[in-house]
Amino acid sequence: MRVFSGIQPSGEMHLGNYLGAVSNWVGMQHEDAVFCVVDLHAMSMPYDAAELADRTVRTAALLIAAGLDPDRCTLFVQSHLPEHCELSWILQCTATMGELNRMTQFKDKGRGQESVSTALFTYPVLQAADILLYDTDQVPVGDDQRQHIELTRDVAQRFNGRYGDTLVVPEHVIPPTGARIMDLQNPQAKMSKSADTSAGCVLLLDDARTVTKKIKSAVTDSGREVEHDLEAKPGISNLLSILSGVTGRPIADLAAEYHTSGYGTFKSAVADAVVEHLAPIQSRYAELVGDPAQLRALLAHGADKARAVARPVLARVKTAAGLLAG
Ligand code: TRP
Repeated sequence: MRVFSGIQPSGEMHLGNYLGAVSNWVGMQHEDAVFCVVDLHAMSMPYDAAELADRTVRTAALLIAAGLDPDRCTLFVQSHLPEHCELSWILQCTATMGELNRMTQFKDKGRGQESVSTALFTYPVLQAADILLYDTDQVPVGDDQRQHIELTRDVAQRFNGRYGDTLVVPEHVIPPTGARIMDLQNPQAKMSKSADTSAGCVLLLDDARTVTKKIKSAVTDSGREVEHDLEAKPGISNLLSILSGVTGRPIADLAAEYHTSGYGTFKSAVADAVVEHLAPIQSRYAELVGDPAQLRALLAHGADKARAVARPVLARVKTAAGLLAG
């Protein structure tokens, strides 16, 4: 069962990314799990070329520090394999303007931009190439990627219909909803770096004081009992999700334990648990970025493993599409 997922090289990671996505990947990792830092996708929006490589390295280091083990899975950087671009071109010959025009992410990201790159439009085709290049069975990504995974399936099926059974049609697997972490200052919105204020977003690399301050100033709800109730107590419910995420204990047990302890005590417990959980991640991260040669070697090894899977798939696709063997 091949699993493939990708993450943008933002160079940062917050508790929402970590508990909602990355920790699921950590739990799913095995020999056939492939994780990719999608630096080519990051170029589709205006970006700073002087920072991209550094952000890519930091994102890879964060993934490893968060628990992806380069010996147990395949972790690599997208641009290290030109096969992604090659397959993307071939799939662009199967995808249609009409279906790409329907992608809401393209509309959202393009809105208000002075000029929109062609790559932002063809972004989902490169994503389809990422996935299809590995004969992927399952793609664990958030619900916001549903349309892109549907497109990937449509393109694969159309390709197979035209040229014979060539591509594996993947499935979207959505992580458990319990791991949906909300902004601490606005529990109606998903935790995000781009929120109005950074106070509601805990970064994996925030120091203990900052983490504690952010969690202690999280908005809470009326009443005084700690209970899981998304309607009446979105703030407290979010803190319970966080505590459950970092301790691995069920929300119901935690709600029972803190039911009458008062919001202040509860928040301190959440802050302490998050700080304790992040400490080893932060020290592993520091080790990794402190040894760039070792990190580069890990990524080169990841690229080798990825290539071993990608090359035969690409060769199969080229033959099916009628290209002359080189
Ligand atoms: N578009 C995805 C996102 O923004 C990132 C991505 C690129 C991806 N290629 C992928 C995710 C392939 C899963 C599989 O989150």
